[in-house]
Amino acid sequence: MPVIRPRRLRQTPAFRAIARQTRVHPNELILPAFVREGIGAPVEISSMPGVVQHTLDSLRRAAVDAADAGVGGIMLFGVPAVRDAMGTGATDPDGILNVATAAVVAEVGDALVVQTDLCLDEFTDHGHCGVLDARGHVDNDATLERYADMAIAQAEAGSRLVGMSGMMDGQVAVAREALDAAGHQGIAILAYSAKYASAFYGPFREAVDSQLQGDRRTYQLDPANGREGLREAALDLAEGADVVMVKPAMPYLDVLAGVAASSPVPVWAYQVSGEYAMLEAAARNGWIDRDAAIAEAVLGIRRAGADAVLTYHATELALALRG
Ligand code: PBG
Repeated sequence: MPVIRPRRLRQTPAFRAIARQTRVHPNELILPAFVREGIGAPVEISSMPGVVQHTLDSLRRAAVDAADAGVGGIMLFGVPAVRDAMGTGATDPDGILNVATAAVVAEVGDALVVQTDLCLDEFTDHGHCGVLDARGHVDNDATLERYADMAIAQAEAGSRLVGMSGMMDGQVAVAREALDAAGHQGIAILAYSAKYASAFYGPFREAVDSQLQGDRRTYQLDPANGREGLREAALDLAEGADVVMVKPAMPYLDVLAGVAASSPVPVWAYQVSGEYAMLEAAARNGWIDRDAAIAEAVLGIRRAGADAVLTYHATELALALRG
């Protein structure tokens, strides 16, 4: 007969509660949200049931709901009405993302950490995360100049944290220098350090009405490369990142655990649009228990090492956790 019986600690709900090694708190959830210019009512995103492109008004309400549920932050993405090669709307104070940022800050103040996606892909007519050179390749250093201006524009709109998702070399250092030189030393930088060229971003492309032809494999990480993700995180730390992130989450839990094992700063993970879509699609078919699967997915990401998780389920999950 076995002497060692791990089942002893699983006997009752009380035993299981006292033995539980990971918990998820609403404050550790961050809600990504889309705001679209020039629409009169929210627009459903068909590949992300339950997620919409917001109007300014509906975005304000979603931010209030998130804050009331105890969610820790909101990450804003803009969908402009007009795009051009340089992504001019990204640095225009009247551009949709900057206007929306100011509107959300006016509505919720510091009840949520208001954050902005700092990347050009939503604003360019070619859909790439940077500007293109004469041959049509993404020009790293010319893009950095745009990111510097974008960081300042977002800080001036009221963003408290810029999320650098473009995967250009040197982007964190350039944003830090630009922010500091403009007097925005208090604005935090989230580095999407280990952002993979993933098929799981599919529904996001609908969410931001992406114009992308081709792919992002010359700047986002190859899904095969774990150590390279650790290297990117180390570089971003050296450049002054306040938070580093791994994205997507579930297919990259090994990278997340590796970054968490060595990072002196908080590590976040982004449960992306395709992860959301898979959960919702399976639940709609009755193939999984929706609420249990949503909670388990985020718990697993936390257990692997994420201090906080960006998830489209943030508000709903926060409410469920509060019971
Ligand atoms: C780029 C960006 C993307 C996502 C977040 N920031 C798209 C991409 O790199 O193609 C994807 C998020 C998601 O899929 O939920 N601005």
